[in-house]
Amino acid sequence: MDLTHSHPRLSPDRPEKPGVHTWVPYSSKDPCCEPIAHIQAKDLSIAYHGQPALEQVSLEINRGCLTALVGPSGCGKTSFLMSINRLTDLIAGCRVSGTLHLNDMDILSSQVDLLNLRRTVGMIFQKPTLFPFSIRHNLELPLREHGMRDRTRLGHTMEKTLQQVGLWDEVKDRLEHPAQALSGGQQQRLCLARALMLSPDVLLLDEPCSALDPLSSGIVEDLIVSLRDQYTVLIVTHNLAQARRIADHVAFFWSFHGVGRLVEYGTAQSMFDNPKHELTTAYISGARG
Ligand SMILES: Nc1ncnc2c1ncn2[C@@H]1O[C@H](COP(=O)(O)OP(=O)(O)OP(=O)(O)O)[C@@H](O)[C@H]1O
Ligand SMILES: [Mg+2]
Repeated sequence: MDLTHSHPRLSPDRPEKPGVHTWVPYSSKDPCCEPIAHIQAKDLSIAYHGQPALEQVSLEINRGCLTALVGPSGCGKTSFLMSINRLTDLIAGCRVSGTLHLNDMDILSSQVDLLNLRRTVGMIFQKPTLFPFSIRHNLELPLREHGMRDRTRLGHTMEKTLQQVGLWDEVKDRLEHPAQALSGGQQQRLCLARALMLSPDVLLLDEPCSALDPLSSGIVEDLIVSLRDQYTVLIVTHNLAQARRIADHVAFFWSFHGVGRLVEYGTAQSMFDNPKHELTTAYISGARG
């Protein structure tokens, strides 16, 4: 997978080994994402059983942008992600308020078509969440749920998507084998493939590399970078070096007496080179968090 043209910050002379990056400093001249708001949150607050977990988050995420959400444990990163495809609805006692839009769609409206929302906004978790079925069945299931039954089309979409995540050659001869027999890194790429089968616009990635060994983590990271531009990507990571390597924008959250707030949001360059808030400075220097 040649990523040197798909991401301006990976060096053209990066080593051959997959998953090993040569960091090239971000230049303000680098092309970034389209300046078109794709996701807009205004005064978004989330509470569990009446206890606030995240308060008054306002931010705009541009289409095709790769945004890293960073901050200490418990500051509400996962809750924020889950509100974007309304997985928060599945948590008893969870209440989301404020406004949240995906283009013109009012995500929090009771009228919203949840099946369509979750097709448009795919999510990947820290640990691969595959069903105890074959590789083929795991991939076909989401499309079948959306009414696609044509075996030829299903086969084509599956092959194209497995190619996209660089898994086709690794699994093409064992599509009927249990998906859970794959390695952790392969399973995570299969989870991404499963989300991509539905042609989403947005990908929510909650610490997708943190349960993987360094090599698999690098391969998944490369893959995420390759998805940039085609999809709007939000990635939660505790790995600041990773955020620095791959993100266009960074949103930094902090927990104030147990309640999460967005402290700073901006380009990765401004966040890492010229943070505006003292908490950001302390967090990225490792002094806090
Ligand atoms: N299902 C739940 N029921 C009750 N409280 C919850 C639930 N999920 C999260 N919380 C609370 O909401 C707050 C934010 O949690 P969240 O998981 O969003 O944080 P996070 O930033 O993703 O943390 P981490 O980095 O550890 O994954 C925490 O105080 C947490 O205890
Ligand atoms: Mg979390």
